[in-house]
Amino acid sequence: MSMLIFQIPEEMQAWALAQRAAGLRIGLVPTMGYLHAGHLSLIDAAKKRSDVVAVSIFVNPVQFGPNEDFAKYPRDEARDLALCREAGAAAVLLPPVAAMYAPDASVYVTEERLGNGLCGARRPGHFRGVCTVVAKLFNIALPHVAVFGQKDYQQAAVIRRMVRDLNFPLEVVVAPIVREADGLALSSRNVYLVGDERARALGLSRALQVASEAVAAGPCAAGEVRGRMAEVLERHALKVDYVEIVDAETLEPAAAAARGHVALIAVYCGRTRLIDNRVL
Ligand code: PAF
Repeated sequence: MSMLIFQIPEEMQAWALAQRAAGLRIGLVPTMGYLHAGHLSLIDAAKKRSDVVAVSIFVNPVQFGPNEDFAKYPRDEARDLALCREAGAAAVLLPPVAAMYAPDASVYVTEERLGNGLCGARRPGHFRGVCTVVAKLFNIALPHVAVFGQKDYQQAAVIRRMVRDLNFPLEVVVAPIVREADGLALSSRNVYLVGDERARALGLSRALQVASEAVAAGPCAAGEVRGRMAEVLERHALKVDYVEIVDAETLEPAAAAARGHVALIAVYCGRTRLIDNRVL
């Protein structure tokens, strides 16, 4: 079956309505492109839970701050389309910004609790942009199931909450982080790493490993574990943006580091901001 490529949201929506009318289950994988094995694992997870998989490739300007990397975010449409085809996607949405946002667009979706801390505190407006575009993608692709990666733990929590609170009729699936053999979590932004930064970036997964080992030895104060994680990050010459241990559901800071809590890290490795997390 050949893969359909839509640039116009309404055309994908018409396709989605036809799939539904034919009784088919639609799986959606929203992405910003520059696909890697992590994205392909999301397509795989969607395939297992649906009859036809739609992938969106859209670098969403609304979720980037004014001093962030929107303009230089890596793009490779031809390669992305080939990977989607190979992975068995039925349709891809690849819209220009103007097809997604009218010049006078004035409706946005905000989540007002889970998105306040962590990346939300460091990237004001980020989750408003994410919720808005994901709500739009849900209305365009009309999925029965949508798959996101655990790499963006807070994003997945915010989207689940949006789906619950706005009654989107779909299931959210969160697929595990895919890592390089040495532990580095796959990210489109890893392409920014130059010189010794690739090696230094291993500090994230190593710090999460230290947190996991600390908790395996018995519950301990979150502050103590965060301190040990920060030491690992500093040893790798990473500039800490945040190191947190939070409740897996509420994302509130935990007093004790214990099994089931989540350790989350954001750092700058040179000029590149990297995030990673691990359920303890
Ligand atoms: O995780 C991402 O790549 C983006 O935040 C998403 C969910 C595709 C929305 O633009």
